[in-house]
Amino acid sequence: MCGIIAITTQSKKNVSKMITTGLKRLEYRGYDSVGIATINNGKIHTLKDKGTIEKVDNALNLEQLEGTIGIGHTRWATHGPPNRENAHPHGDCTGEITVVHNGIIENYLKLKQKLRESGHSFISETDTEVLAHLVEEELKHPELAPTVKEAFRRVISQIEGSYAITLIHAKEPETIFLARKDSPLVIGIQDDTKFAASDIPAFLEYTKKVIVLKDGEIATLTPKSVYIEKNGYRVQPKPFIVSWTAESAQKSGYPHFMLKEIHEQPIALRNTLTINSESVHSAVTKILEAERIIILACGTSYHAGLTGYHQFQRILNKKPVYPVIASEYDSYSHLIDNETAIIAVSQSGETLDVMKALSPAKKDGASIIAITNVVDSSIPRLSNIPLYTRAGPEIGVAATKTHTAQVALLARIALQLQHEIGTLDKSEFDSMLQILNEETPSITRKIIQQNEFKAKRLAERISSRKSAYFLARGPNLPIALEGALKIKEISYIHAEAFPAGESKHGPIAIVEPSFPIIMIAPNDATAKKLLNNAEEMKARGGYIISVTEKDHSIIQRSDSAFILPTSPLHLINPISYILPLQMLAYYAAVTRGVDPDKPKNLAKTVTVE
Ligand code: G6P
Repeated sequence: MCGIIAITTQSKKNVSKMITTGLKRLEYRGYDSVGIATINNGKIHTLKDKGTIEKVDNALNLEQLEGTIGIGHTRWATHGPPNRENAHPHGDCTGEITVVHNGIIENYLKLKQKLRESGHSFISETDTEVLAHLVEEELKHPELAPTVKEAFRRVISQIEGSYAITLIHAKEPETIFLARKDSPLVIGIQDDTKFAASDIPAFLEYTKKVIVLKDGEIATLTPKSVYIEKNGYRVQPKPFIVSWTAESAQKSGYPHFMLKEIHEQPIALRNTLTINSESVHSAVTKILEAERIIILACGTSYHAGLTGYHQFQRILNKKPVYPVIASEYDSYSHLIDNETAIIAVSQSGETLDVMKALSPAKKDGASIIAITNVVDSSIPRLSNIPLYTRAGPEIGVAATKTHTAQVALLARIALQLQHEIGTLDKSEFDSMLQILNEETPSITRKIIQQNEFKAKRLAERISSRKSAYFLARGPNLPIALEGALKIKEISYIHAEAFPAGESKHGPIAIVEPSFPIIMIAPNDATAKKLLNNAEEMKARGGYIISVTEKDHSIIQRSDSAFILPTSPLHLINPISYILPLQMLAYYAAVTRGVDPDKPKNLAKTVTVE
């Protein structure tokens, strides 16, 4: 979950400035310590410390490092606490080798012990540091490893776990050595400059020409060349041009990425819904062929999956559909066989809990449909049918536009399913599809515009509270869960979501005057009972904020209400109803003086179990 960048160039004088800028673009991957290293006059020079990039840069002036080759790292601690010693890059005993790494070297303790016995001494508690010492050790045996490249290859064959590694050696001052397994690494190509990074925005302002390094591949970059190999054989890479602009990876005038991404939802949804029908049809065919469906995901993606579950289980009648949190997969693994279809939902396509579940499921014969935002990431590559949300890069740690894009794609599948099993005839299907594709972006735009001020005002009101409840019933429960997660992760107000009927079985005990209760109240089959739950809370002095539509009686029972346009298609509701809650969470964080883009203890992409 750390961010990596490496650059080798002939034309640019000093790479440390570019590396520092690149690290700022990767800060969403982790931000507890930062470091960079360059080679200058045949020597490695390193600056690193605990803290955000801004803090470390202000203190150390990272850009003072000279050189035309360098590596940089922004860390999210796994092995060893965040401090200067554990910050990357990490070196060997000779000071000639330095390395940055994202992932976990699972057998590092064994390797470290062996290296210690051979006389190596270690500075950090990290698993990463063994990599530099292993290369150093290999180079002591020129008959086996005559070059750094060969030594690097031999090291990669000894390590277990997940990794994206970039390494440089002072004696090869133009070459970057790369390896990847289960952690992302992309290469950027510009005339006489080459980049490697955990994600494309790190170098997007210099080049749009990209190669995605695949699992098991090892690469060497020099300013004028890219060489990729796998199992000792050269691989011909397929570079592609990304359509993102450097600006789309920036804040475009918004104070935070999260707010920018909230406002980008209409366009993200429009792009997502342009998915071609053949891809949706292939996914639907797999779902219909299967005996059971598992929807697998974590965090916000799980809430999108839960919405999909409510829709699919109604459409599929008696075919079992199970929503599964990926880290809980073991409790469901007995269900998996070649009659199972798994729908894996993951924004990043790299979440390790999801990947750890998919690998055995695939071996057991399950078909995998992936719903991912990051093209060619690990999860779609593991899948039989990759489907992409086209929400663009999401930098804010809290998912917003990628969540609604996932819900939209699941709604698109739900419509296709209804058509293919015959519950919607061709003309009904066509008209509903048109509504989904055309109305979703415009309703979304309207809701954001009309409710932002109210969200801000209500956020100011609830921001002094310690706790809040988010209540809903039936298919609206995932909206409540996502609303509670957003406010919890961004503003640190403790929030709980549960089926409204459960209130009386415990949670109502802590309701007191002014306790915020957010009720998800579309005018649907859940409306009448939810109204009773609102009464119960009101009677205890709860401050009721409802998200609802005009003519719903809950408005009279509410202290404040977001009144949304009545949706022309119930499949759009889980998109519409989350929008005010995203804005509520955002403004609650801002009111409390918390940076919504960098919630503490969280990372955007979680590549540890
Ligand atoms: C992290 C992020 C969440 C995200 C979850 C799953 O916890 O902070 O925003 O929902 O991972 O990530 P994925 O990339 O699989 O959707």
